[in-house]
Amino acid sequence: MSNDTITQAVSDRYAKAVTSGEEMCCPTGYNHEDLRTFIPEPVLKVSYGCGTPVGLTTVQSGETVLDIGSGGGIDCFEASRRVGPKGSVIGIDMTDEMLSMARTHAPAVAANLGYPQSNVDFRKGFADSMPVEANTIDLIVSNCVINLAPDKSKVFSEMYRVLKPGGRFTVSDIVADRPVPNYLVHDKGKWGDCLSGALTLTQYWGGLRKAGFRGLHQVTFIPWRVIDGIHFLSLTLTGFKLPHEATNGHPSFATFKGPFSRVVDELECSFIRGVPQPIGSSTATLLQSLPYRDLFILSEKPVELSAQDPDWSAVLPEEAHCVWEGHFALMTGPFIEAADDDHHVYHCGAPHEICSKTLKVLSSDGYRPHFAVINRAGEGISEDSEPCGPNEGCC
Ligand SMILES: C[S@@+](CC[C@H](N)C(=O)[O-])C[C@H]1O[C@@H](n2cnc3c(N)ncnc32)[C@H](O)[C@@H]1O
Repeated sequence: MSNDTITQAVSDRYAKAVTSGEEMCCPTGYNHEDLRTFIPEPVLKVSYGCGTPVGLTTVQSGETVLDIGSGGGIDCFEASRRVGPKGSVIGIDMTDEMLSMARTHAPAVAANLGYPQSNVDFRKGFADSMPVEANTIDLIVSNCVINLAPDKSKVFSEMYRVLKPGGRFTVSDIVADRPVPNYLVHDKGKWGDCLSGALTLTQYWGGLRKAGFRGLHQVTFIPWRVIDGIHFLSLTLTGFKLPHEATNGHPSFATFKGPFSRVVDELECSFIRGVPQPIGSSTATLLQSLPYRDLFILSEKPVELSAQDPDWSAVLPEEAHCVWEGHFALMTGPFIEAADDDHHVYHCGAPHEICSKTLKVLSSDGYRPHFAVINRAGEGISEDSEPCGPNEGCC
């Protein structure tokens, strides 16, 4: 099946859906009561996203926001409200019927927001060749679209091209816990259902990193569907096109605070908790970005931490028997690799089977933001407990 065939099938599917007002796709979490105060009902009815990339206080007043695959316009209109009359929003979609729905309702949204005219520009275009100038966008959002594009690496490169240095994206999309098999990949109909084109988290994360993005980390995840044993998750990810220069100077040392005992960042520098490490200017810029900055002490002189120091963070497993309940943890960034205090080494995106004790550790405040946890067990697991002391490592 060619990329053109897939794209046509997806466009036909959404043209049909918006024309009939059919309900489609995934869990979003938008508060429709609130959105109804300024967005007309026909737009809300064709909300086909899988997250709330604009509803997460990601958007700031006065910004230029780009929505890839804007559909009926729901995220563009919410972004329009959040950027205010001085900001602007561009929505890109390849499907005429979707663009028509969004353009029809843009004047009413502007009037409801008290704007002299709409600050949203809906453009026809493809995610892998966007009609947008390079280095002009502060924030890219996208809601359940990139999985539908046959060539994701082109989409990721386009995202990087159009963002300003220092710009960021927040994207909600469907990913799978294992590679989607060929019988789904070659099923034209299932592309439109957000299944056939889903990447694994490792592939998705790796593709964004290869395009140049850094500071990649999860905002939220929602388990969605299990089909033939494959778990499809709705994941909202954020990442940055880092600025050319670090914003707060060039600290010479970084000390990792925890809770992991060891981590490898996206530039492949390793850090051991509490041990100061000399850093260069690229690492200094990276570690000043959002997901890292609270996890490190950045300093001019080496700062060592001990376990007694209030900045030191660790979460130890209970001294108890553990139970295998079918849980798998997927590390979602920003680290490529990380170790906990109980001999587990996690690789970003790769499902790692964990016992009940480790589940408890990863559910703690320090670890939770870095993981999506799924349960692959079917009915009737025995849940026999296993001895699990310091010398009897279980998982
Ligand atoms: C699942 S809907 C989501 C629409 C909207 N983001 C929302 O949350 O309601 C996918 C939308 O992306 C558009 N789309 C899919 N693939 C695209 C591509 N490669 N380039 C541009 N638009 C695309 C479709 O036309 C459709 O409007």
